[in-house]
Amino acid sequence: MTNLAENKSQETTIPDMKDIVALCKRRGFIFPASDIYGGLNGFWDYGPLGTELKNNIRDLWWKAMVVTPPIGPDGEPLQIVGVDSSIIQNPKAWVASGHVGGFSDPMVDCRETKKRYRADHLDVLIPKDGEGAWIAVPQDDETGVEAKRLKKFGKGRSIGAFDRKELPDVSTNDYAKIIAPDASEVGTLTEPKEFNLMFETYVGATQSEDSKAYLRPETAQGIFLNYKNVLDSSRVKIPFGIAQIGKAFRNEVNPRNFVFRSREFEQMEMEWFCHGNEAAMWREFWTNERKSWWESIGIRGDAMILREHGKDELSHYAKAGVGTIDIEYQFPFTAPGFGELEGIAHRCDYDLTQHQEHSGTKMEYIDPMDNQNRFIPHVIEPAAGLTRGVLTVLCEAYTIDESRPSGMYMNFKPAVAPKKAAILPLVAKDGMPELATKIYMDLREDMAIDLDIKQNIGKRYARQDEIGTPFCITVDGDSLNDNTVTIRHRNTMAQERIAIDNLKAYLIEKLAAF
Ligand code: GAP
Repeated sequence: MTNLAENKSQETTIPDMKDIVALCKRRGFIFPASDIYGGLNGFWDYGPLGTELKNNIRDLWWKAMVVTPPIGPDGEPLQIVGVDSSIIQNPKAWVASGHVGGFSDPMVDCRETKKRYRADHLDVLIPKDGEGAWIAVPQDDETGVEAKRLKKFGKGRSIGAFDRKELPDVSTNDYAKIIAPDASEVGTLTEPKEFNLMFETYVGATQSEDSKAYLRPETAQGIFLNYKNVLDSSRVKIPFGIAQIGKAFRNEVNPRNFVFRSREFEQMEMEWFCHGNEAAMWREFWTNERKSWWESIGIRGDAMILREHGKDELSHYAKAGVGTIDIEYQFPFTAPGFGELEGIAHRCDYDLTQHQEHSGTKMEYIDPMDNQNRFIPHVIEPAAGLTRGVLTVLCEAYTIDESRPSGMYMNFKPAVAPKKAAILPLVAKDGMPELATKIYMDLREDMAIDLDIKQNIGKRYARQDEIGTPFCITVDGDSLNDNTVTIRHRNTMAQERIAIDNLKAYLIEKLAAF
């Protein structure tokens, strides 16, 4: 008997990042930006399938947040409205938010190699016996730099003969003893200097300090800037949320791990305005909601962890509150560890208070039931990366299966899959392409369908496995006589015969139940 279970248990083998990157390029999910000019570090373009995948994730988030927000603890649906604010805002907004003064990373330069490092991403190996160089190594040591540097500069000692300190914990008086990660001489690292991550531009024809503006480093501020407008123009009452999806830009010092940390990316953020007394309850509510949402789009619960920020990692706006929890995913490049996918922060009343002070506009909320009760709302912020979410879905879906010609398939949930079904005539003759086209025309209003006519059928199945299409529908010689087609299930490769008349209802039912 054929096994038609769709959700064949996922292989636990963690795929190799370079295979995922290669698949993305080969099949049109993600390309390096300006590829023909050799790319540009930290920038990526989404191809035909990557755009569909990203749009699907984006639309599912928007639906879960704005169109049908969750049911709140009191059993009533929550109120969340959307905005789409400008990427460039009045630069005063970024002074008020703290980004002009504080959105920076501590950097050190190597005078010998001219390389630049984030100080807080370097460790220093300090010889316990006081003999020889202090060896600086990357914390995120993907290519075995530490072992190589130890061999070269460690005087035959093993790692146990060294103490380890983060570079920011080393006194700058001791920098003369440090050998930088790529240098051959000691003492070439400069003292740490703060480097602001915002991209600058100029508004208007003259380029001066007065016309300087910034590309937004987070979508959140566009929400705070519109808080008053939304309150005055819609019928929302505290607690309520404002959601936004859009591009954000950060001149990351060290973009890496494919689209994980890029310089241009997309965020999906929601600012939940509530009373400060209820902030802890809402943070817990939104943490659970957000983790369940990632599960609903196909991320295994046990591939994610919740991690509470330590006091020393809290952002300036979160210091006084109940703190930040990250939802982290086990990416191939972090395994067995985890990397941030989304943060749920208690931003306190920091942003609205800052904008009130800097703009002179009152941000107080007046309780409609009790005019005496005026307060600046607190904010719980679930802030997710859309493009990082795409990477997560790609990593999670990549399933190694040596038994099939492609050696793998993408186990996308139908809701995120770029194509839900593919129509494949067995051969490109004898009336089969015409019947396939007729079926395609009948189905395409209801779901995203691929019609792929030419090439050997095995190669076409392999392509659909690689792009994660849940169902392939093959039109063969018999189809013309008996009005039936073969349906191949992506995960099990099982095949079954079905009447064309029942095809649409069959697919709708199967896709919903996947
Ligand atoms: N408004 C709060 C905020 O922006 P964040 O932790 O800096 O918080 C939120 O960013 C999310 O945006 C992160 O969890 C991550 O998914 C995504 N993100 C941040 N920087 C990114 C980058 N350089 N490249 C890709 N995604 C990034």
